[in-house]
Amino acid sequence: MTEFSFRNYTGIPYLIGHRGALELYPENTLISLKSAIEMGIEIIEFDVQMSRDGELIIIHDDTVDRTTDGKGFVYEMTTEEIRLFDAGTKFSPSFAGEKIPILDEVLKLSASSNIALNIEIKNGPVFYENIALKIVRKVLEFDLRDRTVISSFDHEALYDAKKVDSKIKTAPLSVNRMHRVCDYLRELKADGFHPRWNYLTEELISELHDNGYFVNTWIVNEESQFTKLAEWGVDAIGVNNPLKFKKLTEHD
Ligand code: G3P
Ligand code: MG
Repeated sequence: MTEFSFRNYTGIPYLIGHRGALELYPENTLISLKSAIEMGIEIIEFDVQMSRDGELIIIHDDTVDRTTDGKGFVYEMTTEEIRLFDAGTKFSPSFAGEKIPILDEVLKLSASSNIALNIEIKNGPVFYENIALKIVRKVLEFDLRDRTVISSFDHEALYDAKKVDSKIKTAPLSVNRMHRVCDYLRELKADGFHPRWNYLTEELISELHDNGYFVNTWIVNEESQFTKLAEWGVDAIGVNNPLKFKKLTEHD
């Protein structure tokens, strides 16, 4: 397997399918992630929390309340209990029966394609013991390190991931401007930066690139924003509906 280059030199940003394709499918489910892969995008993004029995669970919130027919914190339930919930119906009854996936299932699905992965560690305000260690081990087990970037708002978890495997790629998420960001990324041993789009400038992208960091931004909904970020040379853009933006990345 050749290594996926998260540093994209083409001027046409990669598309990142946010929680799969959350505008079209129930977020973070296998159908959402599989459908995003089938749309021909380059990267899928999904979120990881942990169950009471230490399983890596693909869900955005620390509770199952918003996206399923269940109630309660992920860390208080066993995998068996979590798997009983319906993660499709709240989005649309036509997705009834969709389950909350575990990381193994998503990695297995990904390994059978060429998709690159953005695995987001959810850690805080509920903190999970050794979550970075467990995720990195799984990525290595499925031989997906060369096409994976791990991101998180919990930058300590990214530092932990590097301690497990110095070659695993990491990129901190940010919703703020950061002072001397390249110095910070160096200290964190990160490979890239994942800022929210509206905190980005052309100058910042250049500075990050000049220092060897890729820049993957999120979540863009408007075509005009997408085009501007593409012109600025951003490497990848997270979107909720990849089909809407696919035409903007298809050039002769
Ligand atoms: O990777 C970008 C995005 O997923 C971060 O925010 O809350 O959607 O996980 P959130
Ligand atoms: Mg996320």
